[in-house]
Amino acid sequence: MSALFTPYKLKDITLRNRIAVPPMCQYSAKDGFVTDWHETHYAGMARGGAGLVIVEATGVSPDGRISPDCTGLWSDAHITGMAKVAAAIKAGGAVAGIQLAHAGRKANANCPWGGDDHIALDDPRYWEIISPSPIAFGGGLSRVPREMTLEDIARVKADFVAAARRALEAGFEWLELHFAHGYLAQSFFSIHANQRSDAYGGDAAGRGRFLQETLAAVREVWPERLPLTARFGVLEFDGRDEETLAEAIGLTRQMREGGLDFLSVSIGFSTPDAQVPWGPAFMGPYAKRVREEAGIPVATAWGFDAPDDAERAIAEGQMDVVMIGRAFLANPHYPYVLAQKLGVAKPDWVLPTPYAHWLERYHGVAKG
Ligand SMILES: Cc1cc2nc3c(=O)[nH]c(=O)nc-3n(C[C@H](O)[C@H](O)[C@H](O)COP(=O)(O)O)c2cc1C
Repeated sequence: MSALFTPYKLKDITLRNRIAVPPMCQYSAKDGFVTDWHETHYAGMARGGAGLVIVEATGVSPDGRISPDCTGLWSDAHITGMAKVAAAIKAGGAVAGIQLAHAGRKANANCPWGGDDHIALDDPRYWEIISPSPIAFGGGLSRVPREMTLEDIARVKADFVAAARRALEAGFEWLELHFAHGYLAQSFFSIHANQRSDAYGGDAAGRGRFLQETLAAVREVWPERLPLTARFGVLEFDGRDEETLAEAIGLTRQMREGGLDFLSVSIGFSTPDAQVPWGPAFMGPYAKRVREEAGIPVATAWGFDAPDDAERAIAEGQMDVVMIGRAFLANPHYPYVLAQKLGVAKPDWVLPTPYAHWLERYHGVAKG
């Protein structure tokens, strides 16, 4: 019996297995509106057997987008398109999730194949970027952001709330707040980005305040019956990981008490000088630590696509759900591969209808 292929229940939501597709930017939106690409892309991975498909980092405001081509939910007009994406994911048998984000000092960037750097000041696609302190990320993202005022902070929190309400209206059932990867919320938490001397900086409580307040405000509009989750960089691989982890676990515990249901454990990416020990399944022990010490269900990503690694992560209690990203881009039916390698005789999904029977034979998954 495979642990990876057992259902997972959180609040009123049940995933058919422990395989989740983490958010992955598609850089294919127009003014924040999804296009046909999004519907087909997300539908494919849902039909392929994922238990949960989380739609990419979606801007809560125009200036919160990573790139001008990223999706947004800053107006009611964006709901209709997103509702089609959510419906397509559900039709494929997966739970529809979405990640809401403000990219902070990493916003207004070119897409990866366009340079991955900040857009030039004289480019018509330029916009002002904001962050807790006027400190540039560095490398290709070297533009100095404007330091946020208390009004900016209140505005962005309200933007998260409004976007969450729209995500709910669009039919999403799993909400992930992007508190990771060097974007705005992570920048509040990180000493690499936050040198404020007011209530939103200083010690761990001050640096965690924006995250906690945003979470609490979103919880007010996101129903108790549905999972409210976050992705959070719990360490930076910057030489002070024990300290950062201890602070991050403390904040996670507080956020759990404030209504957080689940954490996607990730990396801070707040400094270009990080020494990340890339390798298969390397985040597993950190996920387990957060799970045990913060007392909250978790997932993590980063190199968990090898069937044995994914299976072990669940069976050995490192995490509750495994996030698998790039393997799904390479093969949207990747769960068939996992099922075959793990000896799952009867996968409980039978999509896509026109060729599921063939995929089962192709991947050696016996139909019982
Ligand atoms: C094309 C692409 C886009 C991504 N966009 C996002 C994103 O929108 N939000 C996010 O939190 N992570 C994003 N990531 C990171 C993935 O969610 C995931 O953590 C990463 O791919 C590692 O998992 P993997 O080894 O299974 O691919 C992106 C990754 C890729 C490859």
